[in-house]
Amino acid sequence: MANDPRMMGYLMRALSAEMAAVQQYLTQASLTAMWQLGAHSSRFRRDAEEELGHAQRLIERMLVLGIPSNGTQLPPIRPGRTLEEMLLIDRDLEIEVIRLYEEAAHYCARVRAAETQILFASLLQEELGHLSDLDHLLTEIQQGATS
Ligand SMILES: [Fe+2]
Ligand SMILES: [Fe+2]
Repeated sequence: MANDPRMMGYLMRALSAEMAAVQQYLTQASLTAMWQLGAHSSRFRRDAEEELGHAQRLIERMLVLGIPSNGTQLPPIRPGRTLEEMLLIDRDLEIEVIRLYEEAAHYCARVRAAETQILFASLLQEELGHLSDLDHLLTEIQQGATS
């Protein structure tokens, strides 16, 4: 059970997605700092730290299961050329990871891998929160209320 190959696959894909998000948000934090958008830069930095925390929780779970803490492959970075474009790209990224966590949590429930299911379900809730923050911010920006 611990080494169910499909569950291992979900953990590895999840770790890749979280590491890719760290890379994405750190790049956006640096770019927005260069554009003098200090508040947005700090927000991207906090997002990167949150995703790093997710990566660590996945790594801990993989170590407990005796799985090497490898991601599979990092996708190329897509920072965006404007703040709005950045947020739209990030929205897609979050939706992708939400789909992955939904599928992974569902699969773990089916094979009764309770601990891993709890982790995926908890990460899913956090990414849903992240998506709703992004949507809120996008609405503000599209209405011209940028900070
Ligand atoms: Fe995450
Ligand atoms: Fe996220």
